[in-house]
Amino acid sequence: MGGAKNAALPMMAAALLIPGRSIIHNVPHLRDVVTMQRVLAQLGARGGYPNHSFEVDATELTQVEAPWDLVRTMRASIYVLGPLLARMGRARVSLPGGCAWGPRPVDLHLRGMELLGAKISLDHGYIVAEAPPGGLRGTHIGFDISSVGATGNVLMAAVLARGTTVIENASREPEIVTLAEFLNAAGASIHGHGTNKITVEGVRELHPVEFDNIPDRIEAGTFIAAAAITKGRVNLVGARPDHLGVVFDHFREMGVDLTVEAQSIQVIAPERLQATRIVTAPYPGFPTDLQAAFLALLSVAEGSGSISETIYPDRFTHVPELVRMGADIVLSDHVATVRGMSKLSGAHVTSTDLRASSALVLAGLVAEGETLVHRVYHIDRGYERIEERLRGVGADIERIDIPGP
Ligand code: EPU
Repeated sequence: MGGAKNAALPMMAAALLIPGRSIIHNVPHLRDVVTMQRVLAQLGARGGYPNHSFEVDATELTQVEAPWDLVRTMRASIYVLGPLLARMGRARVSLPGGCAWGPRPVDLHLRGMELLGAKISLDHGYIVAEAPPGGLRGTHIGFDISSVGATGNVLMAAVLARGTTVIENASREPEIVTLAEFLNAAGASIHGHGTNKITVEGVRELHPVEFDNIPDRIEAGTFIAAAAITKGRVNLVGARPDHLGVVFDHFREMGVDLTVEAQSIQVIAPERLQATRIVTAPYPGFPTDLQAAFLALLSVAEGSGSISETIYPDRFTHVPELVRMGADIVLSDHVATVRGMSKLSGAHVTSTDLRASSALVLAGLVAEGETLVHRVYHIDRGYERIEERLRGVGADIERIDIPGP
């Protein structure tokens, strides 16, 4: 499995905190990673990643602005806010807009920075943040909602703050645990990561670090789904089963046989998948990033299933496209109810975002006839060379250039 995108992005931003040359191994070649690399370069931290190892030198930062043209292509650019405030005492970061499936506010990130003593204002679409004289100060932050991004941003800001910061209702996602471990390896003093209460003792300075990223749990889930939907058998090498607890429970409930071995996970799909009921939730709950893939599975499972989306209630733009392929999905009040069909039929479909693309590709693998997924480039934000790798396990899939109208 490739390295986790959503752990690599905050670690890359965290490298801004470190004067010197740091290396993160197992960074996937993805569009979002390239965007983050550009954001860092804009700030004066030049880096590159031959062979999936991201090397960056943040000895000297020259700018504090993350511009609109980069942030609009990737919301995770907001991750530079905390590190810039901590290291440079100020930051100017374009306010991310909405995304394909609705509003995605950053109020919790901003509130966190304010509680650390920063002054925040909005100027022509930019967040302007300024640390108090003497730098950020440790504080107590209780989030009303568990937010991966806000937890990460506050963690990065707090590591160089004076005194102790306590984050309550912190996100427990493996990607946040990895970020905390990365920061600790660089000399930070963070405790409690992996629980919902994280304590950060501010330190004066971090030092360069060389660190291994974790494998991507969402990519692993997607490949298991690809085997499951095609009645296939695959051996997944290098995934972390301990990051996939609830996801495995649902695969098993659907009849997928998963055997965890020392170095791999053996996946054997049943003749027909069985329906299941899923509720997305913050980790260790079922990840919203696999909701779309599981909707594709439920579309061909036996019986009626459902997915209730509690993180992003409108993240269902793939549903009308799956319906065009013959799926029977009814959306009501952020719950998708699916009656499994014995088959889907290939069609022209359009993807709107990364995870929607994965659902359409999965459905296309099993649909009768040919499926053309338009705007499939969204998938390159989260899956490296997906078509080659699926072809490697027997899929009939290729990427083609379709001339415009
Ligand atoms: N929220 C707020 N205010 C904030 C921040 C979040 O109300 O300031 C709300 C969101 O609207 C949402 C909930 O809190 O309802 C959780 O959002 P969170 O902040 O956890 O999401 P995120 O950090 O923006 C990350 C991943 C997403 C993933 C979510 C949920 C990265 C770069 N992105 O986003 O990944 O869906 O956590 O697990 O880590 C993807 O990879 O396709 C993707 C979208």
